[in-house]
Amino acid sequence: MADPYELSRQAASELREMTGIGTYNLAIVLGSGWREGASALGVPSSEIVASSLSGFVAPTVAGHNGQLLSVRVGDKNVLLIAGRVHLYEGNSADQVVHPVRTAIAAGAQTVVLTNAAGGIDPAKGPGTVVVLRDHLNLTATSPMEGAPPPPPYATRFVDLTDLYSKRLRSVVHEAVPDLSEGVYAGFRGPHYETPAEVAMARTMGATLVGMSTVLEAIAARHLGAEVLGLSLVSNFAAGVAAGALNHLEVLEAGEHAASSLGALLARLVPVL
Ligand code: HPA
Repeated sequence: MADPYELSRQAASELREMTGIGTYNLAIVLGSGWREGASALGVPSSEIVASSLSGFVAPTVAGHNGQLLSVRVGDKNVLLIAGRVHLYEGNSADQVVHPVRTAIAAGAQTVVLTNAAGGIDPAKGPGTVVVLRDHLNLTATSPMEGAPPPPPYATRFVDLTDLYSKRLRSVVHEAVPDLSEGVYAGFRGPHYETPAEVAMARTMGATLVGMSTVLEAIAARHLGAEVLGLSLVSNFAAGVAAGALNHLEVLEAGEHAASSLGALLARLVPVL
């Protein structure tokens, strides 16, 4: 495979050419539910089909449509990455993180990763938004696997002590005091977890389970960006409440929450 870092620089230069935006300040990866809400940030000045840029693969999941939207919010150029791609679609870790690497190559020094997740804490039901404090990467892979990053990139042995930026979390808590923090366990999926796996995740310290975010966070941190993670609890994780899970329920929870997620993003983006 081509050098993924060079590929991201190439995609960033195509993005600049297509949008006329020289540099982005902030990128937001929009997970299930967050996408609809993001229209609250304003009317995009451009909408690009993500797969028209080098290295981008088209999403195959219902509810995930691959677009890159540019929005000006105050003095910030914001890149909205709508329609992430996942490992479970058969993508490599490098493909999963390519949009985030591209956004950072296009200047974004702050990366907001949003997702829908299963909630482990019975007190935080569907509709709750949780700020990620940390994660457990249970995908058994890493975007740092493979050939070492070429110079001038940092070594592959990236420090994740402050992965979900403490500074950004305090900024968020100042702006929206009622948000609590959680730990996200990232599984490969696409099957939902068994109740035993959810119990394992809980024992290991997780409060949320999902199938995205962790690889993107690692790649963003490696490139020196500050990372903020936001989960919408779309359902109780398997075994936490009575009844079965289904993907439609996850999408519906996102639709229901869309306007409040949009309002939250509109409140946060100016202070990030
Ligand atoms: N498990 C994993 N991923 C998810 C879930 C879940 O319960 N809900 C939304 N994404």
